[in-house]
Amino acid sequence: MKAIIDKLYNTQNLDREEFLNLLNNFDTNISEYLFSKSREVALKHFGNSIYTRGLIEFTNYCKNNCYYCGIRSSNKNTERYRLSIDEVLSCCKTGYELGFRTFVLQGGEDNYFSDNEIVDILKKIKSNYSDCAITLSIGEKSYESYKRYFEAGADRYLLRHETANEEHYQKLHPKSLSLSNRKQCLYNLKDIGFQVGTGFMIGSPYQTMENIVEDLMFIKEFSPEMVGMGPFIPHKDTIFSNEPAGSLELTLLLIGIVRLLLPNSLIPATTALGTIDKNGREKGILAGANVVMPNLSPVSVRKKYLLYDNKICTGEEAAECNHCLQNRMKSIGYQLVVDRGDYKYK
Ligand code: 5AD
Ligand code: FES
Repeated sequence: MKAIIDKLYNTQNLDREEFLNLLNNFDTNISEYLFSKSREVALKHFGNSIYTRGLIEFTNYCKNNCYYCGIRSSNKNTERYRLSIDEVLSCCKTGYELGFRTFVLQGGEDNYFSDNEIVDILKKIKSNYSDCAITLSIGEKSYESYKRYFEAGADRYLLRHETANEEHYQKLHPKSLSLSNRKQCLYNLKDIGFQVGTGFMIGSPYQTMENIVEDLMFIKEFSPEMVGMGPFIPHKDTIFSNEPAGSLELTLLLIGIVRLLLPNSLIPATTALGTIDKNGREKGILAGANVVMPNLSPVSVRKKYLLYDNKICTGEEAAECNHCLQNRMKSIGYQLVVDRGDYKYK
């Protein structure tokens, strides 16, 4: 097993059988060996610096009905909200003062916001905070829409592929969504010039180790600048409410593997990881992640943006989370830095 990890470290890739072998047979010792390598690679590229992204969840309206997600359109228990442009700008102001130089505008697929409106928000943020990067995460749009966002100043785009297996994709999503369109969107984003993030949930219902191998192979082939991976966590108002959450150990293993596959990629220690384990984010960093994404949304709406149950940080102000994360990173020998934290193309 260590030979497989050495190969992954030396060649930045594995074949299908080797991936499967590693996923099916890892134990604590193997994980620790992997993390010693993945951590070394992260330290080589980023030192002990952790990039922060201020997450602004600006709408929880969503036209989609993904089976796993708490803000799916058919969930009548979700109290819906939208932030005004001024509210978004005020979140950015708070974030800027705390040292954030990346804002992530995330929302459900909410047709209330026309492209003109998104462009307007982007331009206003860019004119107020010209030294900041903007990441959009608002789902599947046309090539033309993506291009307009890019031209208006969006630098990056997050769109997780969720699972690279067609059949598995259909078990997690209604018929209106397809893996092929999702992938097309990702290729369009890359073509336009965005730094692109994709990723998947670990332990989503029906997921097999073979599926995860496909995820890893897709990620290697697509070679995104950012990779978001977090455990699936059930939400009480979904059909998956009684499904078990994804495992901490497997999530950490995958962070380590992706760090070795794409050495200079940006990998967050996600809020979902911090939700299934109180030190999940620290463990994520020690497995090779190098980004954290504290929440900048107004506390008044935090509890309404629940993709899964028991989400952490829904009662804390931005400054509190920032302080908390600073301490958490310090406790493991890392530090939050004031930096846009762009992907470094070689
Ligand atoms: N558990 C964990 N992650 C989830 N997401 C959506 N619902 C859940 C859930 N129940 C993730 C998806 C999406 C991202 C914004 O949040 O991967 O892309
Ligand atoms: Fe939000 Fe710790 S990061 S309270």
